[in-house]
Amino acid sequence: MLYNNPRGIGCVKCHGDNANGKTIISFDHVYRDKKYKCKLSAPSIKNIDYKQFYKKVNGKDNTKKTFKNDEVCQKLIYNADIMPTYFLVDEEIEAIYYYINNLKDK
Ligand code: HEC
Repeated sequence: MLYNNPRGIGCVKCHGDNANGKTIISFDHVYRDKKYKCKLSAPSIKNIDYKQFYKKVNGKDNTKKTFKNDEVCQKLIYNADIMPTYFLVDEEIEAIYYYINNLKDK
């Protein structure tokens, strides 16, 4: 239930039915007269370390990360900070984590 309908938008909307990640949208981005084909996708969130998982779900902003010059799309998407911040208690995060890691691949 928390995976599909937490307080806020469901993880399922972006990370997909099986939490294996999915593409949300593809778009062209022009940067310094060059066109990049970007694909916004939410990564698989299975097999993630619990600490990292916890931090991401209740964390405020993405931590600063550096990108190479040609990683235009990656940088744009990361900095857009698309993944919402949730305010879930520890038990809820544990429950989602458990749920995700026990989802059977269809
Ligand atoms: C609006 C879309 C959206 C929703 C809703 C969403 N996420 Fe995400 N999530 C993303 C995107 C995009 C990324 C990758 C970019 C980033 O790290 O910000 C991400 C990254 C993550 C990561 C980090 C993965 C890694 O490899 O480090 C975790 C963990 C995660 N999401 C868990 C969740 C959980 C749990 C929920 C529901 C409570 C959720 N997400 C809801 C879009 C979303």
